[in-house]
Amino acid sequence: MEQRRRLRILAKTRETTDACTFVLEPADGRPLVYQAGQYLTLLFHSNAKEQRRAYSFSSCPGVDAFPAITVKRVVNGAFSNHLLDHVQPGEVLDAIDPNGLFVLPEKHVDTYFFIAAGSGITPVFSQLKMLLYSTKKECRDAKMVLYYANRDSQSTIFKTQIDRWILEFPGRFECTYFFSREKNADHALFRHLNNELLEQLVRAHFQGKISLHARRNTWFYLCAPKALMRMARMTLRMLNFPEKHIRQETFMPESRLPVRAVDHSKTHTILVSGRNERIEFQTYEGETILDAALRQGIALPYTCKSGVCFTCLAKCTAGHVDVAFVDATLHEGPGSMVNTCIGYAVSGRVELLFA
Ligand SMILES: Cc1cc2nc3c(=O)[nH]c(=O)nc-3n(C[C@H](O)[C@H](O)[C@H](O)COP(=O)(O)OP(=O)(O)OC[C@H]3O[C@@H](n4cnc5c(N)ncnc54)[C@H](O)[C@@H]3O)c2cc1C
Ligand code: FES
Repeated sequence: MEQRRRLRILAKTRETTDACTFVLEPADGRPLVYQAGQYLTLLFHSNAKEQRRAYSFSSCPGVDAFPAITVKRVVNGAFSNHLLDHVQPGEVLDAIDPNGLFVLPEKHVDTYFFIAAGSGITPVFSQLKMLLYSTKKECRDAKMVLYYANRDSQSTIFKTQIDRWILEFPGRFECTYFFSREKNADHALFRHLNNELLEQLVRAHFQGKISLHARRNTWFYLCAPKALMRMARMTLRMLNFPEKHIRQETFMPESRLPVRAVDHSKTHTILVSGRNERIEFQTYEGETILDAALRQGIALPYTCKSGVCFTCLAKCTAGHVDVAFVDATLHEGPGSMVNTCIGYAVSGRVELLFA
């Protein structure tokens, strides 16, 4: 069901002491088709086990000649350190086709606000390039506001390019950096972005009055630690911006998922279809649909296995599925999209459609 890819590293560029960009080209003869804001899933083989990590594109289709991802070091992280310290140009990486829902809307939007922190700039950088350089009708004339939090200038990924855009696109693009350890930098506040400050900044952008038209024509894209995104979402909802105009991408896999007891005496039948394939298999009660498929050698797509990336999303066309997030379990039925990595069949038969 998933499409495996081979990608050669053409170049590796250091962005900061802790982040590198990898420029890629397909080594399997097929073009890599992606949208600004999407991510690539890399496959690593460690101790005879396959492990997966998602990396958002920092390049933009139609603007950059080759796709690129930007990786930031996570302290004690297995694969971010491996990529930064050992992987070199010329090597070929295993991957699956690009994925992700953190993409720009198809219609014209007046104003975009982007809130990013650290490596969270990566998909936002790709989207900004799309909006600034694309000749697409829906991208032209949109205004962009970036709030970007880091420790200091040195650790800020893509700062040189962003500073250039501030000068190059006055009136269309503005950026405020939030530095926790540097005072008096240009375009920067020596503060953490909190709810009061965000409210003040957004209100000031609309000269103190946020009209109904502004609420309908402004979109927000958040890619930052969960606490910052939660704060931003609550503040924006309090300012009456519609929920559906607030998109977020979570980089940190969820480690506190609820675990269900597996009962081998009860089974459910799952029929998955997509790309000219139909496969039927059984899950045990209490086993996720993805785990059951993988146990039986059926390659359903996935990356995080924890409900944050949406690689595993499928449309439920028959039956019922419990989708068990950390803070809520959704009981989904026909017509709903379900994350198979945290999805449990609760009816005797479930039918799922993969795009
Ligand atoms: C949709 C999506 C897009 C992503 N895009 C990017 C990107 O563009 N650039 C990028 O650098 N990373 C990105 N990530 C994060 C990336 O997939 C890995 O999670 C990250 O590189 C850490 O992997 P690791 O193997 O080094 O760490 P692991 O060995 O998996 O983890 C080591 C420790 O770090 C913690 N940890 C894991 N991930 C993170 C994290 N992201 N931040 C802080 N702590 C963490 C773990 O809980 C664990 O304690 C993205 C993740 C998702 C889900
Ligand atoms: S694999 Fe990431 S949401 Fe299911």
